[in-house]
Amino acid sequence: RGLCNGFRLLRAFLRAFGHHLLPDACVVVRLGYQKGRLAQARRQMKWVSGMTVRILFVCLGNICRSPLAEGFFRHEAGLAGLEIEADSAGIRDWHEGNPPDKRSIKVAAAHGVDIAGQRSRPVVPEDFARFTHIVAMDRSNLEALSAMAPTGCVARLSLLLDHAEGLAGQDVADPWHGRADAFERCRDEVLLGVRGLLRHIGGAN
Ligand code: 4NP
Repeated sequence: RGLCNGFRLLRAFLRAFGHHLLPDACVVVRLGYQKGRLAQARRQMKWVSGMTVRILFVCLGNICRSPLAEGFFRHEAGLAGLEIEADSAGIRDWHEGNPPDKRSIKVAAAHGVDIAGQRSRPVVPEDFARFTHIVAMDRSNLEALSAMAPTGCVARLSLLLDHAEGLAGQDVADPWHGRADAFERCRDEVLLGVRGLLRHIGGAN
């Protein structure tokens, strides 16, 4: 609005000196803004273009954050009546074959979600062709995924919190070295991201 007022003043000033044909800069700015909104809406529409959606959630070790994301995504999708393939994996194979961290199992169970049956696995090159969307928990995971992605990669890469209102670009912090409350905060952030992701898929956003 400040910009528009500036342009209005400038236009009035120039009109006073006879520049009647000056384009309405305010309209130009508004059109540019609307074009941006349209492009954003189009990007979101791609989520609902009829293709089968398969989502892979990724964190570093695949024992704390991404198992929560997988578990809550399945749970929330089920509540919404959506059948969407979901899986999770780690950038590293340090915990391959292991169940999720007990603290993640506990904070999920407190919300009625059972993630105890999941097993850690590393991201593999085939994931970039198998999944339509790969959702990273933090920016370092996203960087690692971008470096691994083959050219012509099918999967769309994003951060989980890109899908949460007002949290785009933010990390779901690694709770591994934290106390119990770090896992509770992690679960709450994961839930916000997962719900936003489902809204995008459902086209409600
Ligand atoms: P996650 O957390 O990436 O959310 O599974 C971690 C789990 C294990 C380690 C680091 C982060 N670790 O160093 O073993």
